[in-house]
Amino acid sequence: MCGIVGCVGSMAIEPTLLEGLQKLEYRGYDSAGIAVHHDGEILITKEVGRIAALREAVQIHNKGTTLGIAHTRWATHGSPTHANAHPHTSNDGSIAIVHNGIIENYRELRKELESKGVVFASETDTETIAHLAALLWDGHLPSTMAKVVAKLKGSFAIAMVHRDKPDSFVVTRKDSPLVIGLGHNGTYVASDITALLSHTRTMLLLEELDIAVVTAAGVTVFDQDLNTMERKPVKINWNANAAERSGYEHFMLKEMMEEPKVVRDTIRARIQIDKTSVEFEEFSLTDEELKHINKIFITACGTAYHAGMVAKYLFEHLAKIPVEVEFASEFRYRNPLVDESTLVIVISQSGETADTLAALREAKRRKARVLAIVNTLGSSIAREADDRIFTWAGPEIAVASTKAYVAQLTVIHLLAIHFSTRLKTMDEATARAYIEQFELIPEQLEHVLEQRTEMKALAKRFAKGKDIFFIGRGFDYNIALEGSLKLKEISYIHSEAYAAGELKHGTIALIEHGTLVAALCTQSTMIEKMVGNIREVKARGALVLGIACEGSTQIGEVSDFTLYIPKTMDILVPILAVVPLQLFAYYCAVERGCDVDKPRNLAKSVTVE
Ligand code: AGP
Repeated sequence: MCGIVGCVGSMAIEPTLLEGLQKLEYRGYDSAGIAVHHDGEILITKEVGRIAALREAVQIHNKGTTLGIAHTRWATHGSPTHANAHPHTSNDGSIAIVHNGIIENYRELRKELESKGVVFASETDTETIAHLAALLWDGHLPSTMAKVVAKLKGSFAIAMVHRDKPDSFVVTRKDSPLVIGLGHNGTYVASDITALLSHTRTMLLLEELDIAVVTAAGVTVFDQDLNTMERKPVKINWNANAAERSGYEHFMLKEMMEEPKVVRDTIRARIQIDKTSVEFEEFSLTDEELKHINKIFITACGTAYHAGMVAKYLFEHLAKIPVEVEFASEFRYRNPLVDESTLVIVISQSGETADTLAALREAKRRKARVLAIVNTLGSSIAREADDRIFTWAGPEIAVASTKAYVAQLTVIHLLAIHFSTRLKTMDEATARAYIEQFELIPEQLEHVLEQRTEMKALAKRFAKGKDIFFIGRGFDYNIALEGSLKLKEISYIHSEAYAAGELKHGTIALIEHGTLVAALCTQSTMIEKMVGNIREVKARGALVLGIACEGSTQIGEVSDFTLYIPKTMDILVPILAVVPLQLFAYYCAVERGCDVDKPRNLAKSVTVE
């Protein structure tokens, strides 16, 4: 979704803004623009399309530029045109603003402003903010911003510059992320941490409705009543090249290759020395609280939702707690049965997904305790949940989530062990055997990733296909759903995932001669059934790629192609089995010449409903 960058200080302003926008590209955008304060004027440059076009259009000044703000826009109100691109300005040109989010009452505001003679230049909701600010301008950035914010309904992160203020600009946020970086040569703002890592690791995370005045020397934070607020900076330990491609052709490939490390980092320090239990430094329930939980409700979107489906199987099977899973976009509209004895678990890589955040708030309103499994420190979801467990995946830049999903599954296993040992539904010997197998997963992942040339060859053969189907039972069905989503989102090949036994109730009609069916057959108790399902589709002309655990010869015998993954416990297999599907989707997208890291129509962080 949209991205904001800003800076003030002795850094080269225009190049710094352009570099920041480039780091935010992965969020998805269709136009970009910057506003700089230069020799007493605000100079605006905007372009539709890629940042490369903006880079060519921007004039780089060596002297006289003191600060700037910049934006990538992902069109919501109004198409991606030059007029709709940010920054937007007031009619007298004294104010320029950039904005992420949606102003819900912009129609009323626009009418009111037009009746006062204001002329609008765009179709956006954002432009109302610039005109409001000009109308309410009192000579001071924070007080004007407070008056503007009082009029707005919706979600926003805003940065605003004024012609009379060459040394400072003002920012604010509500339901939309904004971080401030404190550097040695000035101060930076951005929509996320990754955009600032090359400048500083000292970040200040703004709270809801904070108003911050940003100068080269630092930042002063106010609340809406203009009281000064103390916000302690935090040190971010993500390393700067985590947000770089480091020689890989795409972020997605780099991020898949990081999966073994991600699992190691996520389990490290959580498995206890005697290897019979798991503890989290950021989350603990008393025995009383744990016993009080009579249901777990998991809610998330997309890939994170698929991780939630695996969690349902695990928590019910091991901890014997009933679990419901629901899309976050449905959760709050279905009047969910959630109360103070429900533990609601929200799962999110970005920590900013609007639907997941709204579900979290709804769960809290219904008095449930909310635990977030989240990757991004300081994100809205991490901050608003009652408890949080971090997935130590590091920044994920490719729109298609890969390593974050693997990290989510890892935390879910840790939680399953934690719950079941605490509730005594799992004895020490079982926990030890489980943990010992779990600790082998990073090495086994390395082995799966080594087979990428095979997935590349298969992708080469099937990338031109019209449809690809994924089938599986139990955990394998969950993985099939994730494999299918991955393929759709980056290669644009139509794909469906089906519970293998359900296929014959309708969807099998779509199987034609030569259609590829990826059959996940990793669950030892389901092999016979899957052999039957493979025969069914083969009888209709399908070509079958079987994915099975080493030693599972039956699958090799009935499939046209077979990929073997290392043998582990059935419950742990999903972490390994998803990787060949991620690789397959990746290589299909490469083969078809798609923009792998930034697929069409998608955004990394979906901050609108
Ligand atoms: C995954 O490949 C997708 N791009 C998408 O489904 C994503 O998982 C979903 O939007 C949820 O995002 P979150 O984890 O940041 O909340």
